[in-house]
Parts: sequence; C-alpha cells; structure tokens
Amino acid sequence: MIECVSEQAMKILLAYSGGLDTSVAIIWLQKQYNAEIIGFCSDIGQEEDLEGARAKALRTGAKACHVLDQRDEFVRDFVFPAIRGAAVYEGEYFLGTALARPCIARGMMEIAAREGCGAIAHGATGKGNDQVRFELAAYWFNPSIKIIAPWREWEFKSRSELMAFATQQKIPVEASAAKPYSIDRNILHTSYEGGVLEDPDKEPPAEMFQRTIDPRKAPNQPRDVEIRFEKGNPVAVDGQAMGPSALLAELNKIAGEHGVGRADVVEDRFVGMKSRGVYETPGGTVLHKAHRAVASLTMDREAMRLRDSLATEYAALIYRGFWFSPEREALQKLIDAVNEPVTGVARLRLFKGNLMVIGRNAARSLYRADIVTFEDDRGSYDQRDAGGFIRLNALRLRTTAVAYRGSTTK
Ligand code: ARG
Repeated sequence: MIECVSEQAMKILLAYSGGLDTSVAIIWLQKQYNAEIIGFCSDIGQEEDLEGARAKALRTGAKACHVLDQRDEFVRDFVFPAIRGAAVYEGEYFLGTALARPCIARGMMEIAAREGCGAIAHGATGKGNDQVRFELAAYWFNPSIKIIAPWREWEFKSRSELMAFATQQKIPVEASAAKPYSIDRNILHTSYEGGVLEDPDKEPPAEMFQRTIDPRKAPNQPRDVEIRFEKGNPVAVDGQAMGPSALLAELNKIAGEHGVGRADVVEDRFVGMKSRGVYETPGGTVLHKAHRAVASLTMDREAMRLRDSLATEYAALIYRGFWFSPEREALQKLIDAVNEPVTGVARLRLFKGNLMVIGRNAARSLYRADIVTFEDDRGSYDQRDAGGFIRLNALRLRTTAVAYRGSTTK
C-alpha cells in the first residue's frame, strides 16, 4: 500500500447515474475520505438524460463529471461476442447487466488513469453481482486501484434513510419517492428486481414493462425480419447494413412492438442467494435465435457441439464477472474460430410475443439437398454404408449385452 503523505486530497472517480444512491455517495465520499469526487457516466444506451446527470453531479459537489458514449463498443465488444458464444445464463438470462458492467469498468478505468484517480467508487450494493463484476474488471486494468463501495460501508440501511439524508443535504430528490423496482437499463436489456417481484409466485404488474408491448396487445399482423450475419456478427437488417448499436436499436424497436423478449426468471447470484428477476431483451432475443439459424447451416456439427458444451461455462463466467480473465479470453478464441464460417441470412417471424424462424440461407452452406433428399439422390449417398456404420457403433453395446446378460436376450 502506498500511503498518501501530502495534504493533497485523494481523488475518487465515482460511477454516477444521477440517481439517489450515487448522489448521496458524492457527499458521503467527500466527507468520509476527505476526497475530491469526479463523476463518470457511461452511455450504454440506457436512454437517460446524461447531460442532466452531469449537471446534477456538479451541483451536488463533484469537481468534474465525464460522460462517455460506449454504445457501439458495448454492442461490438461485449454483446456480439456473447451472441457468438450462445451465452445464456441458467437457460433464460441473456446477461444484459453482466455484459454491461465490464464495459463500463473499462471506460471508467481509462478515465481514472487519465485523471490520476487512485480510487474508484460505485453504487452497487453488497448483495448483488454488480459489485463483483465492477471490481474484478477494475483490478484487471489496475491491480493496485482502491475500490470503495459505499453501500458496504455507510450507515444507511434503506432507501428512506438515503432520502432523509439527501433532503437534509439539499440534494434534489425526484418526486417519485417510492421507487417500486431496482431497474437496470441499457441497449441490450432492461431488468427489474425487488418490490412486488420479491415474491417469485406473483406475476409482474403489466405496467412495469418499459420496452415490450404486452403480447396480448401486440399487432394482429406478424412482422417478418431478415438478419444477415458475417463471421457470426449481425451486420444488416432487412437488407440494410447497420453498425452494431444502430442494428440492435432497430431490432429492439421491431421486437418490442411485437412483445418479443420478455423473461421472468429465478436465478442464482454469485454470492449464493436465489433472486427473482424480470427481463426485457427484445433485440437480443431475436439475435440469439437468428444466429443459431445461420449457424445451423454453416457451422460444422462437432464445432457446434463443442461450442455449445462450453456455452454454459462461458455464460456462468460472464455472469460471475470474469469477462476480463484468461479463461474468458481463451474461450472467446475458440468461439470466434468456430464462428468464422457463420455468414448468411436468417428470416424470422415475430407475432404476439413469439419468435419463429421461417427460413435461412448461406452462400457456403453445409446443407446438401442432394444428399438429404427423400427423392432419388443419384448415388450421392450409399444407404448400404449405414448398416456397417450402425453395426460398429453397436459393437460396444452388443459386447456389454453379452457380458452382462448372456448371448441371447429374452
Ligand atoms: N440479476 C441480474 C444480474 O445479476 C440483473 C442485475 C441488475 N442490476 C441492478 N443494479 N439492478 O445480472
């Protein structure tokens, strides 16, 4: 540890959202650490007023506040790799928050280095995954960074205590004092936890959802969409080439209008507890399905089996915050290698919350109609080969049957 000898104030870079918790954190950190606070807001497509947040940070006492547009880097460097790897946690969760945290941490650590901040702080609580994700990534970029998590230290135990402190400190508190959920939003998803959702048997209130229409109220006409992939990355929608975040935004709009992408799950947090979460991942849900449709034509069978067998592990390590780790980078190399041939088009139909593949094509497809046909294959496949193929596969089964049950079966 390097001790601060001078009277010079310690500089802390705080991940700032403009919300109550991180606003209180500005004042609390100043007092507690006699520190100079610099704010950091990442734009990852949450569609919140970040210039407003910046102004609020300055009004609340921050010396400066950086706003960094990370939308394209988030989608290109985090969301698309996860889609190439079929990363789905516990069968349901597309990792919208888990992918955002290392991206934000990377942007933040760049600014911490530039600003000469020896410490960073964040508003994640001591109960969740986000603290782990933030901090593991921060240590990766600067092994000697000091990390402060006010929620693990301060005396406030509830939102109402935070509110009381904020009012006392003249921090502007939004009128909506009762915040019904813990919401995390970015271009990939919106997640909801807490409040009435804490009973896993209670259906989420209809008015909670922000970016997908109730499937029961979705249009009576389906919407077909065509997505082109190159080397496993989506590059065009309905024939129109688009950059990463524009493409995802477009699919969010289309899928949201048809009620596609909702998931209501109970998941296992890294710290050991189960938690109920509801997610809206409209465009991401479409992309995962479309990617698999193109891979079904273009990816070698054993390459896919290997990728899929590792997908659970890959998803778990992303969920647990190990995006920046030797094991994720090694896995990514394999995932990207098997995605090299994944170039082609998938067509999907969106209809009242459903998502159906209705077609796929690829210039270098491995699908051979001449071989698979029920019609005359003109000698491209010799059915007599199958007898020996099955007999050799059965050799060990027959050997076992004889060893355990004698030569005949009744
Ligand atoms: N349970 C999800 C996860 O761990 C979502 C977390 C949302 N975070 C938040 N601060 N509300 O990835």
